[in-house]
Amino acid sequence: MGSSIGRHLILTTFGESASRYVGAVVDGIPAGLPLTEEDLRFELGFRRTGRKLVSGRREDDIPEIVSGVYNGYTTGSPVAVTVRNSDAQPLLYKDVSHLPRPGHADLAFIMKYGRENWDYVGGGRSSARETLSRVIGGAIAKKLLMMAGTQVAAYLKSIGGTVDQGTAAFTEAMKSKHFPTRARSSEMDAEFSKIINRLFSDGDSAGGIVEVIASGVIPGIGDPVFWKIKSALASAIMSMPAATGFEYGLGFRAASMKGSEASDSIVGDSSGNLRLEKNLSGGILGGIATGSDIVVRCAFKPTSSIRKPSTTVDLDTMEPGSISVVGRHDPVVAVRGVSVAEAMVALVLADYYLYEGIIPASRISRRVAEEMEGKWKAYMKEYAQ
Ligand SMILES: Cc1cc2nc3c(=O)[nH]c(=O)nc-3n(C[C@H](O)[C@H](O)[C@H](O)COP(=O)(O)O)c2cc1C
Repeated sequence: MGSSIGRHLILTTFGESASRYVGAVVDGIPAGLPLTEEDLRFELGFRRTGRKLVSGRREDDIPEIVSGVYNGYTTGSPVAVTVRNSDAQPLLYKDVSHLPRPGHADLAFIMKYGRENWDYVGGGRSSARETLSRVIGGAIAKKLLMMAGTQVAAYLKSIGGTVDQGTAAFTEAMKSKHFPTRARSSEMDAEFSKIINRLFSDGDSAGGIVEVIASGVIPGIGDPVFWKIKSALASAIMSMPAATGFEYGLGFRAASMKGSEASDSIVGDSSGNLRLEKNLSGGILGGIATGSDIVVRCAFKPTSSIRKPSTTVDLDTMEPGSISVVGRHDPVVAVRGVSVAEAMVALVLADYYLYEGIIPASRISRRVAEEMEGKWKAYMKEYAQ
């Protein structure tokens, strides 16, 4: 089961929905990065359950750094973090044990690992509980990126057919951290909240699109052939549970455009800086970052565990069956998917920065670390929940 991602900054995730712990091991972090449990807890707060409009599972999500940090700074050895699962409630899943949920990973897990080895409680390894480990990795990646002046933020662009039209600036994506639905404005937040509340009462779910924006990207990172930055981003984004689509820049819209419409002028200034006027290519050309904002979008499917009955097969009798999932579920996984997508983009960029020497691989000087820490503290203060 491949549970690691990255070439230099390698995140390994572990744990299941109902195991005692979930967590992350992050290897390839240079020594000297200031890192506390509070940093991780801050980022985990954006994907937490038990809040308004998301799954009712009540987890405190308290991270414990068990290795790799000494006196508040990373040592260069792998950072291992555990988080206790305290609200798994296996009894809620007793129907799933013989009635696999259509649209979840149940059927495929039975086919691959055998019914006798299948951990059906809360989806086992395919549970979105695993995404907590990604957000831990993402928090570390964000701190590394901040040293190079790069930041990543995402927001919820659509639920079902309701779309936040227009082009978002990076600062607006950041602002979404103030809203429960992770919309970029109070108007869209109100609209999305209404839809989610309706889904809750109907026992149904809906899909959605998340847009991620990386600003202050160092031009030139990425490779022109197999290690194109767009390929790494696509792989990371599509590794998220429930992700069904990836695009960057114009994405699928480009397929119905004329060359003259999709053309973006190259402009320069007197200091010798060059850029594309409209950034239609989402900050990437030829697999290499242009220095403009990297803009990627991820489509999430509707949550497959819903109260409305779905047709399946009863594995005990092999007769047709019906399942209505009454556990705690997100009506729109894309809402919590915002923080996970943000983490995935941060991980990819930090991995490239380390691999290409933008960030020193062995050691961060105290001066650089302290400068970054000042910015990080300001970020935590501004977006405190
Ligand atoms: C943040 C997040 C939360 C999720 N919450 C749920 C949930 O509450 N119920 C559910 O059935 N699926 C949920 N999912 C999706 C499942 O984990 C996913 O559909 C399953 O692992 C099968 O993988 P696939 O959809 O990629 O094929 C969530 C996904 C994400 C990213």
